[in-house]
Amino acid sequence: MTQGARHVAIIMDGNGRWAKKRLLPRVAGHKAGVEAVRTIVRAAGDMGLEALTLYAFSSENWKRPEEEVSDLMGLMKRFILSDLDEFAANDVKLKVIGNWRALAPDVVAMIDNALERTSGNKRTTLAVALNYGAQDELVRAASAAAAAGAITAEAIEAHLDTADMPPLDLLIRTSGEVRLSNFLLWQSAYAELYFTDKLWPDFAPADLQAALDQFARRERRYGGL
Ligand code: IPE
Ligand code: IPE
Ligand code: MG
Repeated sequence: MTQGARHVAIIMDGNGRWAKKRLLPRVAGHKAGVEAVRTIVRAAGDMGLEALTLYAFSSENWKRPEEEVSDLMGLMKRFILSDLDEFAANDVKLKVIGNWRALAPDVVAMIDNALERTSGNKRTTLAVALNYGAQDELVRAASAAAAAGAITAEAIEAHLDTADMPPLDLLIRTSGEVRLSNFLLWQSAYAELYFTDKLWPDFAPADLQAALDQFARRERRYGGL
């Protein structure tokens, strides 16, 4: 039997379709998506996960209309600011992965502050992937490994944005799409994959529990017998 999951990652997809179904603007879907994030972060802690990584903005999402990008950045800022107390109450340590230092200076400063304020928290690490692309991460990691001496699997792994996190156990994608969209390509080498048709704003703690229950029934072999 598989051991319980320590690290779960989620491709939070389907906000736009959730809004469209309700004849609402896409930003309404993103707002509902933030509510789902709040609920799921709390549930992940209660379910004993050590780490939760959430794909919030990809390095390819810049292709979206300027207005949507700015709505997403605004929501991100508000989420981090308004939830700092909640992180403290739930013992959540914030981490940000991806090329987030290239974001606007006010966002970078706010993230730096949030990282510092939550750095002593221990129960769950919440890694938010912001301006994240796995290929970009791998290029950065391989360059750092080369600069440090040799490009080996161990050296690349040690320079990934997730280097200090437990190995990825389970990768979930909502909204019925069955692709990785440049998320955690290295880390998913032996992760279990779980796809659900639920749109992200509708994804509830019971859905996370269902994914974890299925994970517990999977047999992981890592190439062995
Ligand atoms: C996921 O929802 C949120 C982000 C990518 C930021 P989408 O905005 O991709 O929603 P759909 O896929 O259009 O429904
Ligand atoms: C992946 O979703 C990125 C995030 C969830 C942040 P997308 O909606 O951007 O992915 P594609 O375009 O459908 O592959
Ligand atoms: Mg999408």
